[in-house]
Amino acid sequence: MDERTPDASSATAKAGASGKGPKRVPRDNRQTVGTQHVPEPRMRCVDVNVYYGDKHAINNVSMDIGNNEVIAMIGPSGCGKSTFLRCLNRMNDTIDSCRVTGLIELDGRNIYDPKVDVVPLRAQVGMVFQKPNPFPKSIYENIAYGPRIHGLVNTKSEMDEIVETSLKRAGLWNEAKDRLDQPGTGLSGGQQQRLCIARTIAVSPEVILMDEPCSALDPIATSIIEDLIDELREHFAIAIVTHSMQQASRVSQRTAYFHLGDLIEIGPTEQIFTNPLHELTHDYITGRFG
Ligand SMILES: Nc1ncnc2c1ncn2[C@@H]1O[C@H](COP(=O)(O)OP(=O)(O)OP(=O)(O)O)[C@@H](O)[C@H]1O
Ligand SMILES: [Mg+2]
Repeated sequence: MDERTPDASSATAKAGASGKGPKRVPRDNRQTVGTQHVPEPRMRCVDVNVYYGDKHAINNVSMDIGNNEVIAMIGPSGCGKSTFLRCLNRMNDTIDSCRVTGLIELDGRNIYDPKVDVVPLRAQVGMVFQKPNPFPKSIYENIAYGPRIHGLVNTKSEMDEIVETSLKRAGLWNEAKDRLDQPGTGLSGGQQQRLCIARTIAVSPEVILMDEPCSALDPIATSIIEDLIDELREHFAIAIVTHSMQQASRVSQRTAYFHLGDLIEIGPTEQIFTNPLHELTHDYITGRFG
């Protein structure tokens, strides 16, 4: 796996030597460049392929999600970001035509093992969607539902505590504490998205997947969610799909660039945005593609 990972420093060293700027991997080479694997990953993906019927949507992707990191997944529309994200908690199982091959591990355990129960898996690897989707229930019940069905609490006071802690971690407690019995759908869009994050946190996940979580929000609500993502990193690993390169550079430590189903490049966010190793990444971040 790692033998195909070029050394970033040597690529940088070549830059300037020619006087023509950095020498990058050419566009027709679709092997992943950068650091795909990290020590002690939370999730490890090896040679993952995804098909919708005959359509090959994800092509041999290998990468890790590290502990306490935010990893951004970027790339042009249709390149497979959502498809790949959905593999990480087997959400693609719900699509009949979809077939996933390869290895995906959570803490060293193959999540596609037939013995794995997807209900607890989807609590361990929670998901926040593009459009806030609170249940048509009270704010309290939106949070309490998960811990109840997963049997995480025994008493009302334990449940009260989970609801309060989850809303506090999601930065919504002060706005919600006096209206816990009111419908979650009565909150503003940005508040609803924080409610959905609180709902995800309430079942003590290890990883949180976010698919364009701010695309329906205004800049103020976006900034609140971005601050929150940074705080949540202390407790969880987070993978976020975003179309905003500014957002990727603000919230993530590593970035993965996808192109037509291939993982083209993965590495430290700052390096990806300032000194990408691949021509295709460079095209995308300079606005020449996508
Ligand atoms: N349910 C599905 N059935 C068949 N093909 C699908 C399905 N979902 C996605 N695809 C195809 O798989 C490819 C990747 O789609 P995906 O939604 O993962 O891209 P994306 O990078 O998330 O795009 P966007 O930025 O527009 O959200 C596309 O060609 C898409 O048409
Ligand atoms: Mg998508």
